[in-house]
Amino acid sequence: MTRPVILTGVRANNDLHIGNYFGAILPIIDMARRRSAEYTVNLFIPDLHSFTTPINHDQLFDSIMNNARVYAAAGLPLDDDAIQLYRQSYVSAHSELTIILNNFVGFGEMERMTQFKDKSAKLSNDRVSVGLFDYPVLMASDILLYNAMYVPVGDDQTQHLEITRDIAERMNHKFGELFTVPEPVAKQHQFFGKDQGLRIKDLQNPTKKMSKSDETGKGVIFLSDTPDAARKKIMSAATDSLGRVHYDKEAQPGISNLLEILTLVRQANGRAVSLQQTIDEFTGLERYGKFKTIVADEMAEFLASFQARLAQVDDDTILRKLESSEITANQTANQTLLRVQKAVGLRC
Ligand code: TYM
Repeated sequence: MTRPVILTGVRANNDLHIGNYFGAILPIIDMARRRSAEYTVNLFIPDLHSFTTPINHDQLFDSIMNNARVYAAAGLPLDDDAIQLYRQSYVSAHSELTIILNNFVGFGEMERMTQFKDKSAKLSNDRVSVGLFDYPVLMASDILLYNAMYVPVGDDQTQHLEITRDIAERMNHKFGELFTVPEPVAKQHQFFGKDQGLRIKDLQNPTKKMSKSDETGKGVIFLSDTPDAARKKIMSAATDSLGRVHYDKEAQPGISNLLEILTLVRQANGRAVSLQQTIDEFTGLERYGKFKTIVADEMAEFLASFQARLAQVDDDTILRKLESSEITANQTANQTLLRVQKAVGLRC
């Protein structure tokens, strides 16, 4: 029997931040470490997704390698054959399936994608690319080519996961069983042991999500920030004038965000605490400075230890893993692609 597939990817369009780490990288690595005997784990670098919005192309190649290093430093076991680490552009079936699926996805469906609306609103019309518009179809191909069942993503990507399910069901209905339909979002959360999708907020503007493309970077904790720089960002995080720690995302979004971040970082530092335990511990505290210092210290400890592990990562080991996984990934992806090519009449 084939094992269910868990799959995710993180774009290489900038330095990675703690939202990427806790939203997508850590959940899949956790599964890879604990349950690789039951599941196949695919962690990839969606490099073709990296320039759907403008980037500095001189840095892309290095950023792609850096993502792979970050995965390794976060604990991805590179010596396990049930775990695949690959680059999207090294498996041409991703592009080919996208071109086919494009013909079965409506213009209106893509136009309604929140991320497309948000990102395109920030660009002048002539810089809104067809690539940005088509991004979710490429993402659907990434998932469907490998028959993935579980896809850990942050909350901002759940709409893309839902459209992937729609596309898979639509194609299966029209052509017979072509694709494995990934589990619905609620089941995904259950599988990864969460109540809801994670959305870490910007420290300066806690009503918006922490994002790689934030221009100033002041509200974003990058994995490459020095522990000291991260400490300063936490200490200057926007809070409120209520002056009392309380978990209330509406009235106290900044403090609530810090409570969530503190829980995640404590867990990463090896302390088994839940969000509720963290909330219970700090609710009512009247000194935000003291609370922020605790978060800042915990964050500094996390970054120092992560960066020490990153410095130990060996590029040759990563390259060998990429190359061997890309052979396996091409085999799996080409099988799915051939099924689709046959179904639509391109092959017999
Ligand atoms: P990307 O690179 O924009 O984001 C990578 C992952 O990080 C999550 N994330 C967050 N989680 C919590 N809080 C935040 N502030 C935060 N910011 C980002 C994202 O939800 C994402 O899970 N389209 C994907 C990349 C992709 C992909 C795929 C993922 C391409 N193909 C197939 C899964 C399966 C993306 O947005 O990447």
